Parts: sequence; C-alpha cells; structure tokens
Amino acid sequence: MSESFDAVDIIRTKRDRGELSSEEIAWVIDAYTREVVADEQMSALAMAILLNGMNRREIGDWTNAMIASGERMDFSSLSRPTADKHSTGGVGDKITLPLAPLVAACGVAVPQLSGRGLGHTGGTLDKLEAIPGWQAALSNEDMLRQLEDVGAVICAAGSGLAPADKRLYSLRDVTGTVEAIPLIASSIMSKKIAEGTGVLVLDVKVGSGAFMKTQEDARELAETMVALGQGAGVHTVALLTDMSTPLGLTAGNGLEVRESVEVLAGGGPQDVVELTVALAREMLEGAGVTDVDPAEALKDGRAMDVWRAMISAQGGDPDAELPTAKETQEVVADADGTLTRLDAYAVGVAAWRLGAGRGRKEDPVQAAAGVELHAKPGDAVSKGQPLMTLHTDTPERFDRSLAALEGCWSIGGAQDVQTADSIVLDRVG
Ligand code: URA
Repeated sequence: MSESFDAVDIIRTKRDRGELSSEEIAWVIDAYTREVVADEQMSALAMAILLNGMNRREIGDWTNAMIASGERMDFSSLSRPTADKHSTGGVGDKITLPLAPLVAACGVAVPQLSGRGLGHTGGTLDKLEAIPGWQAALSNEDMLRQLEDVGAVICAAGSGLAPADKRLYSLRDVTGTVEAIPLIASSIMSKKIAEGTGVLVLDVKVGSGAFMKTQEDARELAETMVALGQGAGVHTVALLTDMSTPLGLTAGNGLEVRESVEVLAGGGPQDVVELTVALAREMLEGAGVTDVDPAEALKDGRAMDVWRAMISAQGGDPDAELPTAKETQEVVADADGTLTRLDAYAVGVAAWRLGAGRGRKEDPVQAAAGVELHAKPGDAVSKGQPLMTLHTDTPERFDRSLAALEGCWSIGGAQDVQTADSIVLDRVG
C-alpha cells in the first residue's frame, strides 16, 4: 500500500517547530497503529512534541486520531446518566474506590475504566486486586449489566479502546516523553471520549507527587483537557488538587483499600473525605442531579452498600480479610515540634520500593506492601514517636525504601507548615 506521508518528514517538521496538518496527524497515528511507523520514529516525534509543543488544533486532531484507532463504547441504553472521574495520578490517591459507589448511590452510573500503576503512582486495579477474588477484566456486556444493576463498575479498559494510546504510552514511559502536556491531555481524553461517558470530572494533581509540579502547568493541562472534552460533547470540568503530601494516611494497595472502606463507613482521613465529596458533587451536578447530598450518602451507609455490591459483582469478597505484610518497620520522629512538610514523591517512591508498585509493566505487585503514615503536615509530633510504618513481604527492600525517605519530612514550628488550607486549589470548566 502506498503511504500518503513520510514519517521522517513529519518528525522534521515538528523538530523544526512547524505545525502538523490534520492529515499528517491522522496518518501518523493510523500508520503507527498499523506498525508502518516504527517505534523509533514515534519516539523521535514524541520527543519533538515534548520539546516544541503542539497547538490546540493539533492536540484535538491527535486526540481524534487516537479515538479513531479503536472502538467507541455507548452507554445510551442505560436508564440513568453516566459520569466518570479521571485523576492524573498521585501518591495515596485511592479516591476512585469510595467515589464510584458514592456517586452511584446518588443515582448516577459510574463506568470507571482504570489502569495499573507504573512508577511511583499507584493504579486503581492493583489496589482492588488486593481484595481476595476480585476480577478486573469484564466484557463490555458484563460492564453494561453491572452498570444497570449496581450503578458502578471499576474495571480494566479493554484492548479495543484507543489502542494507539496503549502503544504510545508504553513507548513514552521508556523514552522520557511522559511529561508533555499535549501527549498527556490527548492520552487521557482519547480514552475518556472513546469510553462514552456523558460527564467527566478531572482531578489534576499539583505538587511533588504529581506529573505537574506547578499550579501553572497543572492549569494548562486542565484547560487543554477541558477544551478537548467539551469539544467532543462531554460535560467536562477539572479540579486542581494538592499533591505535595500524600493523600490520606496510606500509600500501597491493600492499605489503601482498608482506608477507603473506613471512608465508606463514615470515617477515614479528612482530606480523603473532602476530595471524595468535592468530586462527587461535580459529577452529580454535571449529570443534573442537585437534590442529593453526597456527604450524607457517605455517612449513612448508602455508598457502602453499593461498594459491597460492586465488589461482589466482580467476584470479590467484601468481608474477606485484606492481606497483611510479613514484615514491618517503623520510622520515628527525630525532634519535637510540628510536622511541617512530608513529601509526596518520596513516600510514593518508598511505597513502590517496598513492592507496592512495579518497575516494568509485566512485574507483579505485593498486595500488602506500602507506607502507613501516623502524622501529616500540621500534626504535633514528639521525638521517638512513629511517623510511619513500612510494610513489605520482602524485608531486603527496607534499606532502599528508607533511602527514598531521607530528608522527606521537616519538623519545625506550627507557623512553618507547608500545606494548602484546602485540598482543592482551583477549578476549570
Ligand atoms: N495517564 C494517562 O492515561 N496518560 C498519560 O499520558 C498520563 C497519565
């Protein structure tokens, strides 16, 4: 088959800060999916995009080409509206677990296609797989049935959804090209638009534990994604939220499930509850449901009932004991005072090195590994008091995990606390 364009010309155009035409973009994504454009050519193009950027029209075309590389789902047969949430990823970010059943309990169906973790940020599927028996893979028919019967599904995205993104994301991961706003925005939005949700709420993380380290970059990513969603007819809003310190008191798969269940039982850490309720309000409002208070549905057990049904429907036992680690080690405070800083990235890396995350996408994860925090910024601590407990089945990992934590916290005066007053920093949409 004769090809309409030449990959090397396209790479040169972007290398020299030129603009790619709609036709060139449609071709290069299609040809990459057909394996006509080679990985090394796409790597070079991804790096040129990271360095020289793309304008909004190019990003829109790139997103549409990735959607066109696969199937589109359709939830229009459901009896209730649909809303989905996507987080750009952070440390201790277990919000999907309480959020999906909470929104479903308020009358809006939640089709949550999720991924596995890579690097220091955890993956929702890895967390749920800590529950004995729980299965991530569902057919499209089973997903639709569960959405109608239970109202919430958290499952693996099938291989048919934006396959070009799947290939490209693995390539970016090993070529230092993940952190490009046009590539992140198109990667996330191609999957969400192809998924067919009516409402999308984006949780764009800002801070050391996030892809976006500054509020300015996070806002640009949020504005780009909101424009892509709205352009495709999806009601899309974004919240910018703090990821300078871990969310909640746990980072690690089984540990995060335990904390999520505490939230569903009406307790749990205040920041997790605040963010869960804020995102639920946005999802419900987007779907036109304004007469139900998600904070009440969390407190009175309605969200817990949906959680139990959702876990059971996918083969999991909501009453099963969660796995516990074979070994634990405490890290203690080295002074009296107030914990003023606890770095999210360092805690994420420590949890990863304990076995909660994977280095390569085919690696297994430990269900019980991770970091449990006993204090957060703003808390008074005294010398010798445990600040965190490290959990792992493989104690030879403690040393590397402790190395990641070196210098990751500060103890000082109450006036030096470095956290935002509210977890939600801004809203776009
Ligand atoms: N999540 C995605 O799905 N894609 C990215 O590029 C980054 C985060």
